[in-house]
Amino acid sequence: MRVLFLTHTFNSLTQRLFCELVERGHAVSIEFDIADSVAEEAVALFRPDLIVAPYLRRAIPESIWRRHTCLIVHPGIVGDRGPSALDWAIQEQSPEWGVTVLQAEAEMDAGPIWAEERFPLRVAKKSSLYRNEVTEAATRGVLKAVERFAAGNFVPTPLNYESPAVQGRLRPLMKQMDRAIDWSRDTTATVLAKINAADGFPGIADTLFDQPCHLFDACAESILKGEAGELIARRETAICRATVDGAVWIGHVKRGDSVHPFKLPATLAFADECTKVPEVALDGCWAQQHATWQDIRYEEAQHVGFLHFDFTNGAMGTQQCQRLLAAYRWATARPTKVIVLMGGRDFWSNGVHLNLIEAAESPADESWANINAIDDLAEAIISTGSHLTIAAVQGNCGAGGCFLARAADLVWMRDGALMNPHYKNMGNLYGSEYWTYLLPPRVGADGARAIMQNRLPLTARAGVANGFVDACLASDIAAFRVDVARRAAELAAAPDLDGRLAAKREKRAADEAQKPLSQYRAEELDHMRRNFYGFDPSYHVARFHFVHKSPQSWTPRHLAQHRDLGWVVPGEELPA
Ligand code: COA
Repeated sequence: MRVLFLTHTFNSLTQRLFCELVERGHAVSIEFDIADSVAEEAVALFRPDLIVAPYLRRAIPESIWRRHTCLIVHPGIVGDRGPSALDWAIQEQSPEWGVTVLQAEAEMDAGPIWAEERFPLRVAKKSSLYRNEVTEAATRGVLKAVERFAAGNFVPTPLNYESPAVQGRLRPLMKQMDRAIDWSRDTTATVLAKINAADGFPGIADTLFDQPCHLFDACAESILKGEAGELIARRETAICRATVDGAVWIGHVKRGDSVHPFKLPATLAFADECTKVPEVALDGCWAQQHATWQDIRYEEAQHVGFLHFDFTNGAMGTQQCQRLLAAYRWATARPTKVIVLMGGRDFWSNGVHLNLIEAAESPADESWANINAIDDLAEAIISTGSHLTIAAVQGNCGAGGCFLARAADLVWMRDGALMNPHYKNMGNLYGSEYWTYLLPPRVGADGARAIMQNRLPLTARAGVANGFVDACLASDIAAFRVDVARRAAELAAAPDLDGRLAAKREKRAADEAQKPLSQYRAEELDHMRRNFYGFDPSYHVARFHFVHKSPQSWTPRHLAQHRDLGWVVPGEELPA
C-alpha cells in the first residue's frame, strides 16, 4: 500500500513505524504537519491508500479525513481524549495504560477504534515511557490496524462511553497549576511522579536559588536527608533537594531568566549558586546499591565488566566523555576479559552534547573540545587489546553515538531500538568518531555512502542485514540484559578467548601499519574544523534550531518522496 505519514516531526515513534511498514513492503512517504494546504498538497501528490498520523499536535483537516481513512495514534486507553494523555496517567500513578489507534473524525480523538494495546505503567519519565512502552504498543496497534485496513472487511468500533470496556475519558490539558510541587507536603514518590509526568516537556515550573526555572530529569535519593525543599547536595551535573520523606536529584533545568532558554544540566545552569551547595561525590564508579544519582556505573559478574553510562538524552559533553574515558580505562585494568558498554536505557549515545555547545561562550571551541573528547574515548575502545569489547545497544543511538558503539568489537542491539548512523541532518556535519575507519569494512564503500546520504533510521534487523550490527537480541529490555550478560559470560569463558584477543591485536596492528588511526582522525577533524570555524554556518544554524526546537517549516526531501522531482505514483509509471 501507499501509506502517507502526517506527523509533527520525524520523532522516534514515527521512525519506528516508518521502518516497520517499509520492512513489510509498503511505500511510505512523510509530510510534516505545517499547514492544511501543505498536507492537502501531499495527499494530492502521493495519492495514499491510507494515512497514518503517528504524532500530531492538531486535527487533520476535514478536506482530508472525509476522503481518506486517517489513523491517529493516541497515547491513551480507549475513551481517553485530550492533549495530556500520558501526563495524567503518570501523575495519577495509574497501574496500566495503553495506546489507541483510531480513525480521524470531526471530534478530536473521538473516532471509531481500529486497535488498542495496553501495557503496565512503569515508574519512569514520560519521554522514557514514550520511547519504550508507548512505541512498542503503538507499533503493535498500527501494524494490526494496517492489516485490518488492507483486509478490507474490518469495521472499526465506534467510541461508546456507555460500554463498560471504555475506561478512558476526556481530560483537559494539564496546566502548571496541576503539576505544581508543594515541597512542604509532597513525598518523594509524589515529586517523582510530577516531574516524570512533565519530562521531557514541559517540565515543572518551580524555583531554585529563588530563580524561576523548569525542573526535569528527577531521580530518587534514599540516604541523604534535609529540611523539606532545601538543596542539600550536588554531584557532577545534578542537585539534590530534600522532600518531606527523603530527597530527589534534579538532573536538568531550563531557566526562564537566562539567555539560554533550553535544558541544561542543573549544576551548569546554576553554576555560581551551586558553589554554596555541598558536593557529595561518589567514590569511584562501582554501582551504588541504594537509590541515588549515578550517571556512570560499573558492575562485574562472571569475569565480565558492565559499564553503564546513562547520560540524559544520550548527549555526551566534553567532561562526560572525559569521565567516561577515565572509567573505561579503570575498567580495562580490572581482572576481566570482556567489557560490555551498556549506555543508558533510553539512549546508548547521541554523540556530542549540542545544548552544552549552544550554551558555551564559543560554540565552535566547545564543539572542537567535545568532538576531541569523544574521539579520545572511541580511540581508547578501538585500541583495547586486553579485552573483548561489546556495545549493548538497549536504547536509540544517533550520529556519533552509533560510531562510538561501532568502535567496540561487537555491537548487540535490542530489537526495537533504532540507530541513525549519519551526521548530515546537523547542518551537513561531516562527522568524526573514526567513522571513516569503522564504517566501510562493515557495510562496504557503497553501503557507507548510502547510509550517510540517505539519512534514514536503521533497525536492529536491518543493521544485522547490512553488517553494521552483529546481533539483534530480545526486544524486552529485561530479557535483552539477561541475554547480553549470558552471551558475554560465554565469551569470557570460551577456551578460544585468548586466541581471539591475540587475533584482534594483530588485526589492529596491521590496520595501524596500513593507515594510522591518527590519520583517520586528522582527516575527519579537518572537515569538522571547517564545519565549526569555516565560512559556511550551516552546522551552527542547524544546532541552534535543534536546541531551540524551532518549528519545522518544510519536510526534508529525503522523507517526502512525493516531493521528489519526477515522482510518479507507483504502478502508474509511463511505459518506456
Ligand atoms: N545533544 C543534546 N541533546 C540531544 C542530542 C544531542 N546530541 N540528541 C538528542 N538530544 C535531545 C533532544 O533535544 C531531545 O530533548 P528533549 O528532552 O528536550 O525532548 C531529546 O534528546 C530526545 O531527542 P529527540 O530528537 O526527540 O529523539 P528522537 O529519538 O526522536 O531522535 C535523534 C533521535 C538521534 C535522531 C535526534 O535526537 C538527533 O538528531 N540528535 C542529534 C544527533 C547529532 O547530530 N549529534 C551531534 C553530532 S555527533
